[in-house]
Amino acid sequence: MRQIFLILVLIICVTIAKVFERCEFAKAAKENGFNNLSMWTCIAHQESRLNSESRDGDNYGIFQISSEAWCGRGHKCEISCESLLDSDLTNDFLCAMTIYRTSGFKPWSSSKFCNNHSGIWLKNCSLY
Ligand SMILES: *[C@@H]1O[C@H](CO)[C@@H](O)[C@H](O)[C@H]1NC(C)=O
Ligand SMILES: *[C@@H]1O[C@H](CO)[C@@H](O)[C@H](O)[C@H]1NC(C)=O
Ligand SMILES: *[C@@H]1O[C@H](CO)[C@@H](O)[C@H](O)[C@H]1NC(C)=O
Repeated sequence: MRQIFLILVLIICVTIAKVFERCEFAKAAKENGFNNLSMWTCIAHQESRLNSESRDGDNYGIFQISSEAWCGRGHKCEISCESLLDSDLTNDFLCAMTIYRTSGFKPWSSSKFCNNHSGIWLKNCSLY
């Protein structure tokens, strides 16, 4: 009985939270028109461990986008913060691009750990 319960809990967790694979994320970034995929994959990994449901205080989604400046009413991305928590990354990418065009990688403090061109982030990904 207990085991069945645990399995059910596991299934529910798996369907709600979407944790992306490294290459899967990179491919999605490419399809959304991003360059520098290595950098973006590293940032998303540092920010959320590639978990689209990730929320930490004022920061939402796979890119941990801040409701103080970017998502939410009257802010630059003009999208609701909650919409950044689902497994559809389209609006996350749109908002991330807005942030990047405005301020570069700077708003992601973790980006300073990503300036390493060791190539590990895209290793073995078939992106072309
Ligand atoms: C990716 O971005 C980093 C940080 O701005 C930069 O150092 C690097 O040259 C960029 N790489 C490419 C391929 O644009
Ligand atoms: C770059 O990343 C590689 C692999 O993770 C690591 O061994 C190396 O120390 C890093 N270099 C710097 C300058 O951070
Ligand atoms: C890439 O593929 C090689 C050969 O299959 C494997 O040995 C290596 O561990 C893989 N690296 C990563 C980061 O997945």
